[in-house]
Amino acid sequence: MIADGELIEAARGMLPRAYAPYSGFRVGAALLASDGRVFTGCNIENASYSVTLCAERCALSVAVAAGAREFLSLALISSSSDLCYPCGVCRQALLEFSPSIRLICAGGDGMFETFSLEDLLPRSFSDFGRDLTGS
Ligand code: THU
Repeated sequence: MIADGELIEAARGMLPRAYAPYSGFRVGAALLASDGRVFTGCNIENASYSVTLCAERCALSVAVAAGAREFLSLALISSSSDLCYPCGVCRQALLEFSPSIRLICAGGDGMFETFSLEDLLPRSFSDFGRDLTGS
């Protein structure tokens, strides 16, 4: 199975693809599915700012559209040297598919820290007990 460092490099490789003319803040994400596939994404901004798509949800959309629904880890990196943490909306979006996903928050200088989603989104709101089998 792919190592954290490789997943970070896949996320870093997406930075040139980021469309971030408004913030200038490029973000790359790489999502490792439980079947071993890696899906990547970048942030996609819009003149109507709230339409902006984060890199994590970009990768998640590509993955779900390709039939993946279970994820082991997500690496995230930005164009800044600071560690990049997923925003609240992306934490919630990841929770829908993989409450036990590992989040690898990377910085430009090779530093990274890993967290569970429970660490970053405690006492979360989920499916309030509905049976989603077959959905
Ligand atoms: N951004 C992400 O791609 N992921 C996050 O988790 C936080 C923010 C993007 C959205 C926007 O294009 C830029 O970073 C500045 O907020």
